[in-house]
Amino acid sequence: MPNATELLQADARGLARAAAIWRAGGLVALPTETVYGLGADARDDRAVARIFEAKGRPRFNPLIVHVESAARARDHVEWPEAAERVARAFWPGPLTLVLPLRAGAGLSPLVTAGLPTLAVRVPAHPVARALLAEFGGPLAAPSANPSGRISPTRAAHVMEGLGGRIEAVVDGGACGVGVESTILGLADGPVLLRPGGVPVEALEAALGAPVAARDEAGALSAPGQMRSHYAPAARVRLGATERRAGEALLGFGAVAGDLSLSETGDLVEAAANLFHHLHALDATGTEVIAVAPIPERGLGRAINDRLRRAAAERG
Ligand code: TXA
Ligand code: MG
Repeated sequence: MPNATELLQADARGLARAAAIWRAGGLVALPTETVYGLGADARDDRAVARIFEAKGRPRFNPLIVHVESAARARDHVEWPEAAERVARAFWPGPLTLVLPLRAGAGLSPLVTAGLPTLAVRVPAHPVARALLAEFGGPLAAPSANPSGRISPTRAAHVMEGLGGRIEAVVDGGACGVGVESTILGLADGPVLLRPGGVPVEALEAALGAPVAARDEAGALSAPGQMRSHYAPAARVRLGATERRAGEALLGFGAVAGDLSLSETGDLVEAAANLFHHLHALDATGTEVIAVAPIPERGLGRAINDRLRRAAAERG
């Protein structure tokens, strides 16, 4: 982990430096028109795991992927007519679309927290656009604040919250919109998942259809959609220090297994491997996946949260 966070100017040198850090798997906060985002290469499991570590998020909630254009968004998601309408009207801008993830989209499963949908957005901020062009790939970026704190709208806020925990911040001045993007779910009917920079009335006008409110239970989205790709068919037994008959063992640290989340006990590596290894062991057809104990600290909390759900949400 870095100890001094670089403050980069939004000039040619700063943009090139930010892109180089992303290519090397690092974290760089960037300005968008809504709030500053904490960006990482969305295809890099370890880099995405580090986002959760830097923010101290206790869960792997899904992240928004930022891309240069609607054409690049379509590399990663299915693209219904409704998406075309709102993208034409509001991209680039403070609107995020949740759409079905395309098979073989090439993104880290940590980005979607294993969900079959992906949140994508084309930001309008000129510095964000220049950074995406320079980097040339998809950037996963939640708001660049420690978990539970308010979203940053200036580079100095990011430094206060995450200084010493990330490689760099690109200074793009104050964010113009200052509230997060509106999140519109289009995987089923149009549903407002989070109010934000684009008013819902404007979305309804562009769609020519009403937008449903998020359901009263406050669920992320429709229950069918919530089911993770990575809820294993196998039963999951936690806290396993050895393999019982008929089990596949997912190891960690001193507990060797059929696969190990991290032989050295590195929690960032373990988070990066989590969905891949659960999937691989499930694919063997085993009835039970036993999982070694994971310490309840740092990223271990998010890993254990996900494993407890996998143990509960069988099928
Ligand atoms: O304005 C913004 O949207 C900022 C800038 C940086 O782009 N980003 C932002 O990210 O606010 P974050 O991580 O703080 O909030 C993302 C929200 C979360 O509430 C998350 O649950 C939701 O997006 N989300 C992400 N993927 C989703 C999905 N597949 N289905 C439903 N909700 C999703
Ligand atoms: Mg946030």
